[in-house]
Amino acid sequence: MTTPPKQRAGSVVILAAGHGKRMKSAKPKVLHPLCGRPMIAWVLDQALALEPERIVLVTGHGAAEVEKAVGEMGLGARVRFVRQEPQLGTGHALQVCLPELGADPGVTVVLYGDMPCLRPETLRALVATQAESARNGMAILTAVPDEPRGFGRILRDDAGHVTGIVEERDASPEQREIDEVNLGVYAFDGPGLVAALPKLSNKNAQGEYYLTDVLAAFVAGGRAVRAVELEDHEEGLGVNTLAHLAEARWALQLRILEGHLENGVYIEDPATTYIDHGVEIGAGTRVLPCSVIRSGVRIGKDCEVGPFAQLRVGAVLEDGAEIGNFVEVKNTRVGAHAKAKHLSYLGDGEICARSNIGAGTIFANYDGVKKHKTKLGERVFVGSGSVIVAPNTIGDGATTGAGAIVTRDSNIGAGEVWVGVPAKRLAGKSTGPASGTKKETRS
Ligand code: UD1
Ligand code: MG
Repeated sequence: MTTPPKQRAGSVVILAAGHGKRMKSAKPKVLHPLCGRPMIAWVLDQALALEPERIVLVTGHGAAEVEKAVGEMGLGARVRFVRQEPQLGTGHALQVCLPELGADPGVTVVLYGDMPCLRPETLRALVATQAESARNGMAILTAVPDEPRGFGRILRDDAGHVTGIVEERDASPEQREIDEVNLGVYAFDGPGLVAALPKLSNKNAQGEYYLTDVLAAFVAGGRAVRAVELEDHEEGLGVNTLAHLAEARWALQLRILEGHLENGVYIEDPATTYIDHGVEIGAGTRVLPCSVIRSGVRIGKDCEVGPFAQLRVGAVLEDGAEIGNFVEVKNTRVGAHAKAKHLSYLGDGEICARSNIGAGTIFANYDGVKKHKTKLGERVFVGSGSVIVAPNTIGDGATTGAGAIVTRDSNIGAGEVWVGVPAKRLAGKSTGPASGTKKETRS
């Protein structure tokens, strides 16, 4: 049998049953969006980074909604749901997981569904610390924040060994002066955790079963408790309010932007650039201020986006494409070196290479019931202020005049010139190499 690498966890338990009252929202806290995905997706990524055999997600408030959202993330049987009703504390949350964990769940990491900023390296260090010695009962993540209010305090003996955690509400005035706090993230020895959980009591200020009391059980049993101190406080951010959500969003946003900068994407002003998780951008592309790029968008090399552009779901920019100010692109492929530089809406479209979309162009994709496609060939010239009512196709090298209203199914042929309201073919006029061919369209 091969032994697993020391940074891998056997099990990860994510606690996400809490109410999140302070969010003042009907939506379950862990489903609030952060950079294009729900908060819980970030925490599931933390869990996946530890390559565990199982991930157990503890749900309670809004359980059905949370389970549905997580079920749609495509993780399959790797994530198991356990409902905790009622919620009797963090220790109780682990107790209800015992049937899923079995007798030996391996090194078991506990994460919170509302701590989206922890980095995988930090969690791997926690697991590695726990796995250093068979004497270790658990490793805990601690921090020394500017304001320790609300957190459990870490108790240490004179030699510096961790001896306990005391909840603020149970702490003496002297203990409240301790500045090292418990972030609530742990790596446990699996069998030790399984043995300690049934013995927890709820005799404390909150009448809850405290997971932190497992630590006391290890210490009483002569096992070591190791602490890993968080260096970057931002990682330990717990989201309890919408203000915290905004802070977490900014932290994660910066990481996403840093990733693109490292890949050779020029971002003029990170402070006003919004790029979701899961966006591909090629090197040499320039993203100018006040642009919004949503999850799943793909941008090739040497493109230009913005300032003030919005690229929504399904937007694809091929190499060298340019999308300028006040242009919204949704579910549209913009071909290589095609341009839409000003004030346009391009929805449900297909634009082939080197076409030019004039200022103020609208792809009128929605008839009030259904969405329809607009397809443009190569080197199409769309005059300023054109409205192209979908479904429609415009052939290679065709032109629309300024202000043309191209009614649905006009299907302009290659090289043709159409003008007016409603737009009509200008007899005898044609442009480009494909002139003269009738109603020839690209698909
Ligand atoms: C816990 C720790 C405290 C630590 C703090 C860090 C205990 C007893 N205390 O505090 O030392 O400083 O976290 O944030 O563990 N949850 C459940 N079921 C429950 C209770 C909580 O799933 O029955 C979940 C919540 O959704 C939340 C997390 O556990 O994600 C922490 O709960 P919370 O009440 O915020 O933490 P405390 O118990 O106050
Ligand atoms: Mg609590």
